[in-house]
Amino acid sequence: MAIHAPEGTRDLLPDEALFWERFKRTAAEVFGRYGYVPIDTPIIELTELFVRGIGEATDVVGKEMFTAISGANLAMLLDGGTIKGKSRLSLRPEGTAGVVRAVVQHDLVPQGAPPAKLMYAGPMFRAERPQRGRQRQFNQVGIECLGADDPTVDAEAIIMLMRFYDAMGMPADAMRLLVNSMGCETCRPAYRDAVRAYMEQHADALCDDCHRRIDTNPLRAFDCKNEGCAAVMADAPKITDHLCEDCQAHYQQVKALLDGAGLSYIEDPALVRGLDYYTRTVFEVQVDNGKRSQSAIGGGGRYDKLAEEVGGRPTPGFGFALGYERTMLALQEVGVAFPQVCRCDVFVACVDEAARDRAFAVVQSLRDAGVRSDMDHQQRSLKSQFKLADKLGVRFVVVLGPDELAAGKALVRDMGAHTETPVRLDGLACEMQALISR
Ligand code: HAM
Repeated sequence: MAIHAPEGTRDLLPDEALFWERFKRTAAEVFGRYGYVPIDTPIIELTELFVRGIGEATDVVGKEMFTAISGANLAMLLDGGTIKGKSRLSLRPEGTAGVVRAVVQHDLVPQGAPPAKLMYAGPMFRAERPQRGRQRQFNQVGIECLGADDPTVDAEAIIMLMRFYDAMGMPADAMRLLVNSMGCETCRPAYRDAVRAYMEQHADALCDDCHRRIDTNPLRAFDCKNEGCAAVMADAPKITDHLCEDCQAHYQQVKALLDGAGLSYIEDPALVRGLDYYTRTVFEVQVDNGKRSQSAIGGGGRYDKLAEEVGGRPTPGFGFALGYERTMLALQEVGVAFPQVCRCDVFVACVDEAARDRAFAVVQSLRDAGVRSDMDHQQRSLKSQFKLADKLGVRFVVVLGPDELAAGKALVRDMGAHTETPVRLDGLACEMQALISR
């Protein structure tokens, strides 16, 4: 039996893999304008990082991580001491914890330094039940800004994400931007108690998971996928009624900056996001796809305590990540075409077998000059070589025949204009570069 890719994973075949490259390039261009630079952290991390950073009571850590005991003896640096032994490693379910770990480990935000603005792209892993737009391995592009708690950081990043969607051709009216504030360690405990008390009153209508959440982490009940729980939680106390003065002021300023930038958003006091590290601003970009749990194409927020959770000094942070696959589905839904990517600009065809060796040398010299080119490798007839050139979507075919070669020339056919021009072989690379850049 043929072996297929594991459930919940997808092959990005060449056309889509090229599009994924374009997606990352566009993100790097847009985020680069805001001062973000790349960082690349390991796909595996100590499980402990996610337990501490994201929270044991979250679905992501409690139910969805791919974790293995490492066969190798690893030296672990935990709490300043080195422990040797077999360690538990997990595939990263998201990028923030790893980036914050790297920032702390390499002291990227020393005291008094400007904020570190970091961006990343790559695969994340969650053992969820696979569905359209929900995979076990999926790709994210994300940013993290560490070292500043000013509301301008939050607003700037949200605006930047919306600029990215715009650059990808996503119409603003096809998305909704939800914002909320999660409060801080001063105001959240009392709010959590209020939600716990409310859930206790409605315990009969809650699912088993939410029953457990009453004790472990009541706020997680806000993103329970069970419809009965969603109905109960819709009337739960609102965090925005419990914010302390500082959090209230911070939230007002973020909203004022978004207003000033002309962004429309919806305040959603039930938006708590699925990860425990958030403080203050949280936000999500959603599309209508009929599925509540897969409607988020991107989201993020502030996490002012995360650096301390992973052993660093107090370092406020803000970030977001967007899901590549869900964004792609949303783009297709609104009719943004999946571009056909042309692999080569030039095809070198030979009229007879005698010209084949020259074709091999000519195509090589074109590539050395930076021209994306190819030739036939299956001894096709000239007619079939033209068909192949057509399939590859090249703009020009360089034809090498006995008469042209005897005169030190080639015939260059413009596939769009249907014209043919003789070009000297010794100047062919320059001529092709000029034609392509026109
Ligand atoms: P998240 O909301 O868990 O946030 O994930 C961000 C995006 O990744 C989602 O909006 C969604 O588009 C995509 N995504 C999540 N899970 C899946 C899945 N199973 N299949 C397909 N796509 C998925 C985070 O990951 C945070 N690290 C964001 C952040 C950065 N917050 C602060 N900094």
